[in-house]
Amino acid sequence: MKKHNTMKVVLAFVAVLGLASAQRENSLQVVETMALLPEAYRELQRYVVSAVADAKHNSSDAIYEFHREVYLAKDTFLRSAITLETNTLYHLNNQPLEVDSGCLNLLRGSADLNLQVSGVGFTNCILDVDARLNAEIQNVYDQLQANESSYVQFSLYDAFAGRNIFQNPQDINDQLYIKLAQLQQLPTELVAQLSALVTDFRARLEVARSTYRQCLTVNNQVFQTAVDLILIQLQQVCKGSLVASPTLPTTPALTTAFTVQPTDAVPTMPPMVQPDEYVIG
Ligand SMILES: *[C@@H]1O[C@H](CO)[C@@H](O)[C@H](O)[C@H]1NC(C)=O
Ligand SMILES: *[C@@H]1O[C@H](CO)[C@@H](O)[C@H](O)[C@H]1NC(C)=O
Repeated sequence: MKKHNTMKVVLAFVAVLGLASAQRENSLQVVETMALLPEAYRELQRYVVSAVADAKHNSSDAIYEFHREVYLAKDTFLRSAITLETNTLYHLNNQPLEVDSGCLNLLRGSADLNLQVSGVGFTNCILDVDARLNAEIQNVYDQLQANESSYVQFSLYDAFAGRNIFQNPQDINDQLYIKLAQLQQLPTELVAQLSALVTDFRARLEVARSTYRQCLTVNNQVFQTAVDLILIQLQQVCKGSLVASPTLPTTPALTTAFTVQPTDAVPTMPPMVQPDEYVIG
């Protein structure tokens, strides 16, 4: 009797062992499936990283263009201010001897002072555009980063959440295959999204650039107004007169390898002073 019982226990034990070993096989299978994921994840990540790097290269081209235009615009406006000053000094320096030289000296000082004030304006314009550029760069990098992260942050192993590898290995295995399929689906829409971000970035830089030109234009207009006043003072206070200007020396053009595109409507040089504009009637 005792022997019989023992046999039963042994048989039951063997049956459980058989079932258990099939289950264990499934559990081990999960690991084999897991082994497929790293490569797929790396492929996805490489795809995303290189798309984002491409977008960053494109935005660096946009920034390069922007810097170049800032420097070209500054050159143009600076030259324009210098020419205005030169014209003014030409009038002041070519007065007949009977004109009060003390009065003329005051006007020369005034022209110099006003040019220096316009230098403060140049500084303010460029600092404004610089701050704006940096804010835009920060902005586009944040967006690119958000896009990159949204595709690269992908949980591989949440297939295990709420499941037990010894109790539901098949479920986990199925979930892992779903993950694998998701990873293998490269986000081709990402490239279009990123280039949309770069396009917007370019557009915002374009606005910043035109604000900068506007700032320089106003600055030069203020200087022009000051110069106009000096020439009125020359006639009304110092009792001098405007002199016919022969060819005034012009500042030689900057030698540059860059070509300014025709759309870069550069401000025209200030018009030569016309004597009758300053006759107060
Ligand atoms: C990715 O960029 C697009 C614009 O192209 C934007 O609409 C989307 O919100 C960005 N995604 C994330 C997660 O920031
Ligand atoms: C970057 O520029 C190249 C060439 O203009 C373009 O083909 C590509 O789609 C752009 N990529 C992004 C993400 O902006």
